[in-house]
Amino acid sequence: MLLYIHIPYCDSKCHYCSFNSYTGRFDTKRDYMKALERQFDYEIERFSPEKSSIESLFIGGGTPSSIESGLYEPLFAKLSPYLRDDAEITVEANPNSATQEWIEAMVALGVNRMSFGVQSFRSQKLKFLNRAHSPQDAIKAVKRAARAGLGRISIDLIYNCAGDDEEGMLHDIEEAFKLPISHISAYELSIESGTVFSSGEGYAQRNDALARFVAKEIEARGFAQYEISNFGDPCTHNRGYWMHKEYIGIGAGAVGFGKYRRYYPHSDIERYIANPSDIRIEILDEEDIRMEKIFLGLRSDIGVQRSVLDLAMSERADILTAEGKLYEKEGILYNPDLFIADEIALYLLG
Ligand SMILES: C[S@@+](CC[C@H](N)C(=O)[O-])C[C@H]1O[C@@H](n2cnc3c(N)ncnc32)[C@H](O)[C@@H]1O
Ligand code: SF4
Repeated sequence: MLLYIHIPYCDSKCHYCSFNSYTGRFDTKRDYMKALERQFDYEIERFSPEKSSIESLFIGGGTPSSIESGLYEPLFAKLSPYLRDDAEITVEANPNSATQEWIEAMVALGVNRMSFGVQSFRSQKLKFLNRAHSPQDAIKAVKRAARAGLGRISIDLIYNCAGDDEEGMLHDIEEAFKLPISHISAYELSIESGTVFSSGEGYAQRNDALARFVAKEIEARGFAQYEISNFGDPCTHNRGYWMHKEYIGIGAGAVGFGKYRRYYPHSDIERYIANPSDIRIEILDEEDIRMEKIFLGLRSDIGVQRSVLDLAMSERADILTAEGKLYEKEGILYNPDLFIADEIALYLLG
């Protein structure tokens, strides 16, 4: 079982981002953190995890580093008994708000992995994305995390923004590898509705060769690609999602999953605080789960169990294995070229 906690506050809104986060309503932070505890109590009833059974906790956002560390203490006190001793505990942090004190306090609470939204080490690009930090701020933040004793540090990069080329991306990758990191998430810019970038044209570019270039340069420096956008020391939590493990999702805009159901708490902060256990339920069927297993398995090194496929799909899988586009090991089909995962999945589904 996995646990996700969502922090829906940001100091400013990036032009590309549609994640559920607010750049105001900061006076609600204290009540919000209390509401998380209330929802956790409720979910304990529903998911009934054993003590010491949760294998990973991921605190994402929004901007978890916009919440002072003291406000996390009661929450950790409540959920810690359910975490395994060796649980992976990741928190996302923004370079402009992750101070040395904050990082150290989070490590003292048990955080053992930190993920920084860096996006780029070029000032111009950071301005284009409306990021609230400079390249230097990002460098300092990562070093602070290492100084606090964290051995597992990840950074996010974005590519295929308009104007991105090999030279620019190489700079970002070279700067990244000067830092004490163990993981990189490199995302292709997607234009999401409701964002500043969705209100006009020309913010993103299509350049598949650049996507491959980014992956090749990261791999050449020793971080293996284990999912389209992820390289290096694998994140247990994300791999858990892709393996279809159950997850409890706490917070405004979080999502939970278990037993053919997906759970959606309110995304609005005030409504969430008023009633954190008022949760919409989506019921999934076999076909939904099969589709997800195929798409997620082919986008990552997890692969797809042949038993997931029906007869017609299995025949199409034979054609792909004969062509070398899939390979099979112990009943699991693996995709050697993660960048064409969706095409392969669509072909398999027929
Ligand atoms: C949920 S955000 C939280 C990270 C943290 N708040 C930060 O920005 O530093 C996680 C990551 O998703 C990526 N992301 C968000 N929206 C994206 C988009 N439209 N296209 C590509 N990557 C995106 C960014 O790299 C971001 O760092
Ligand atoms: S990318 Fe991160 S900081 Fe920017 S708006 Fe999204 S969640 Fe907030």
